[in-house]
Amino acid sequence: MTRTLVLGGTTEASTLARALADSGADAVFSYAGRTAKPVPQPLPMRLGGFGGIVGLRAYLRENDISHVVDATHPFAAQMSRNALQACAEAGVAICTFERPPWQAEAGDTWCHVPDMAGAVAALPQQAARVFLAIGKQNLAPFAAKPQHHYLLRLVDAPAGDLQLPDCTVELARGPFDPAGDLALLRRHRISHIVAKNAGGTGAVAKLTAARALGLPIIMIDRPRLPARRVLGSLAEVLAWLSHVSDA
Ligand SMILES: NC(=O)c1ccc[n+]([C@@H]2O[C@H](COP(=O)([O-])OP(=O)(O)OC[C@H]3O[C@@H](n4cnc5c(N)ncnc54)[C@H](OP(=O)(O)O)[C@@H]3O)[C@@H](O)[C@H]2O)c1
Repeated sequence: MTRTLVLGGTTEASTLARALADSGADAVFSYAGRTAKPVPQPLPMRLGGFGGIVGLRAYLRENDISHVVDATHPFAAQMSRNALQACAEAGVAICTFERPPWQAEAGDTWCHVPDMAGAVAALPQQAARVFLAIGKQNLAPFAAKPQHHYLLRLVDAPAGDLQLPDCTVELARGPFDPAGDLALLRRHRISHIVAKNAGGTGAVAKLTAARALGLPIIMIDRPRLPARRVLGSLAEVLAWLSHVSDA
């Protein structure tokens, strides 16, 4: 029997959930529970962490999970590491459904950095207006450069102190379009953008808008993960699920 756990939080995960539901597959969709109103899925859903590797291993066993598709965000490295380890320990098949990273095009000015600390260091010393397109986590390191004005775009209104002395919050949920992002960058007189190399189409508009305005982007490269099976399309994931279950 095939019972699939989809680790969600991305467009890819939602696309897979729809395909699994349409085919009548036995599957569960898992959200971390970071947003107040997660996008509903056409599969049974669970919310919240599993409790590390040990908790996930127990969940896999208790729920008779035979396959895991890690369709978390490319920067959700902890969840991906935990899933690889828990599946190895529980003897559960796992693949990653992940979009390729963005590539710089003609007209782009990208400064590649490996992590948040690198992004902070890459920002100028003189006061700038920075679109911090990194979500709500990991904002604290940017307090080390309080001379900048930071623009944040968040799904939910922040609950507590953002730890940045000078910032503006825009509430919005993707996907975003180039005209809207061009207007956003102009409205806030943005001079620099900090972005994670998420890939995909939902958040690429800011790169197109930055190109049009000739703005520099500090691009945080994806975290490194152990060797794993990475599939880039829905068809490949469905083929992998049917192949593994035949084996
Ligand atoms: N990081 C980003 O830039 C980003 C962007 C867009 C969407 N997301 C989505 O937001 C969620 C959290 O991302 P993150 O970067 O905070 O993850 P993370 O740092 O890799 O994970 C931290 C912990 O959150 C829990 N968790 C993460 N994803 C989960 C899931 N799909 N189902 C159940 N528990 C989950 C796990 O808790 P336990 O150890 O207790 O199991 C995990 O150890 C993910 O679903 C991700 O796809 C992340």
